[in-house]
Amino acid sequence: MGTTGTAGAPAETFNYGVVRQFTIATIFWGVVGMAVGVLIASQLIWPELNFNIPWLSYGRLRPLHTNGVIFAFGGSALFATSYYVVQRTCQVRLFSDKLAAFTFWGWQAVLVGAVITLPLGYTSSKEYAELEWPIDILITLVWVAYAIVFFGTIAKRRVRHIYVANWFFGSYILTIAILHIFNNLALPVSLWKSYSAYAGVQDAMVQWWYGHNAVGFFLTTSFLGMMYYFVPKQADRPIYSYRLSIVHFWALAFTYMWAGPHHLLYTSLPDWTQSLGMAFSLILLAPSWGGMINGIMTVSGAWHKLRTDPILKFLVVALSFYGMSTFEGSMMSIRTVNALSHYTDWTIGHVHSGALGWVAMITFGSMYYLIPRLYGRDSMARPDFINLHFWLATLGVVLYIASMWIAGVMQGLMWRATGEDGMLTYSFVEAVKSTYPFYVIRMIGGLFFLTGMGLMAWNTWLTVRGQPRVNPVVPLDSPDARAIPQSAVPASA
Ligand code: HEM
Ligand code: HEM
Repeated sequence: MGTTGTAGAPAETFNYGVVRQFTIATIFWGVVGMAVGVLIASQLIWPELNFNIPWLSYGRLRPLHTNGVIFAFGGSALFATSYYVVQRTCQVRLFSDKLAAFTFWGWQAVLVGAVITLPLGYTSSKEYAELEWPIDILITLVWVAYAIVFFGTIAKRRVRHIYVANWFFGSYILTIAILHIFNNLALPVSLWKSYSAYAGVQDAMVQWWYGHNAVGFFLTTSFLGMMYYFVPKQADRPIYSYRLSIVHFWALAFTYMWAGPHHLLYTSLPDWTQSLGMAFSLILLAPSWGGMINGIMTVSGAWHKLRTDPILKFLVVALSFYGMSTFEGSMMSIRTVNALSHYTDWTIGHVHSGALGWVAMITFGSMYYLIPRLYGRDSMARPDFINLHFWLATLGVVLYIASMWIAGVMQGLMWRATGEDGMLTYSFVEAVKSTYPFYVIRMIGGLFFLTGMGLMAWNTWLTVRGQPRVNPVVPLDSPDARAIPQSAVPASA
């Protein structure tokens, strides 16, 4: 299959400027978002850490953390990688430099808006959609510009084939637009206060249709797009099965949409909707594992590299966590399992096995691949730091999720335990007290993870400050700029 189609290409260059900006933003917001994560993890152990200042109270900092890591860290990483990948695989410059610049500054304005308004207590109180209506409107504008830049670039591509990573990025851009608009429909009553257009059970249903698909498309499909470019590149192997990538793409996109009610099991949502959500969540395991298997099998033939290549280690461990967290999610969707797990720290463990293990790890691996190329360096300034980061991150995730699993199952069992007289065996406070040691372990895990992130920031600083190897702007027709192959050809071809 044709790959590059660069014959006769003008000496045009890619727009790496905006990719660089988003890359640095990723590192910056990673440090900020995870530092807030460690702070709130510490507040659960030492509540006095809010210093009696309302802005620093747990309830306000928690959404700051989630917005910081999902939309600031994860979002910036997705802008950076999607802009990079779409240019490389389509062999053209971004559709519009001006619009791309608008997406960068607009997105950063959204994030700064979040950093200011959330601690001040302005919130729509919808999880992962807390930002009030003026910021929501800005998000919509940025997102429309993003869609124009991305799909415009695809439209003017020089390569006939649309590489599979772009399918994943494209579906995430489209779906997030729809989710964001419908979930945030609201009536503003003042500059920083609005009321949702939905009420009661409809509100809950729309919120978790949004919430679950935010996980499905913002934290999964998009990062699979990242995976489909950076894993074959770093392993220097073709994708294991191009056919599987297409099949699981469509299956994933179709199935995710129906699984939202698993967040509302045992609620006043109609029973049949809950069963439907549970059934689709179980089916979802198949396309999820399709992606995991395709990614891991891509490394076959290059396993030996895992001994020496910390970037590949990040990518492969991320895929393993993706497989694990999706298996866990499907199991947690079974009503009887959810009866135990819901409201407990098990959910928090599940979230972070996906968020730290999959989302953050695949981002770290991809960024370490990207940064030297963006700045024209041979490698990161300190490759030994990448290895250290890998171990800090891995140890951090394991401490985080293992402690939350144990805490969660313990809480669930303590809450439901009854004596022979039918009375509850434990008071709620006893369950809280028993959870303390696990909160300490989680906080230590978080500190490890944050230290790794800090090391990455330092390494990036050293790399960016160092001397460039060549002109960092890669001409379109240079061999280094060739698109990755579509099927059977090794990625270096
Ligand atoms: C240093 C690393 C991190 C630490 C210490 C940390 C800590 C925390 C804590 C303490 C909570 C609140 C739990 C609760 O309310 O019981 C939380 C929630 C959450 N975090 Fe993190 N976090 C970290 C990194 C991340 C990353 C990288 C992501 C996403 C990419 C993430 C996504 C979330 C989400 C989605 C929630 C809300 C979970 C829910 O509502 O069920 N976290 N985190
Ligand atoms: C097959 C895939 C998956 C399924 C079926 C699934 C299922 C579930 C279930 C049943 C819950 C608990 C709902 C509750 O009791 O309240 C949950 C919570 C959650 N999952 Fe997953 N999960 C999957 C993959 C993932 C991945 C890969 C991530 C992250 C990258 C993730 C992030 C979350 C978050 C953030 C929540 C907490 C939502 C909240 O209550 O705030 N999930 N998931």
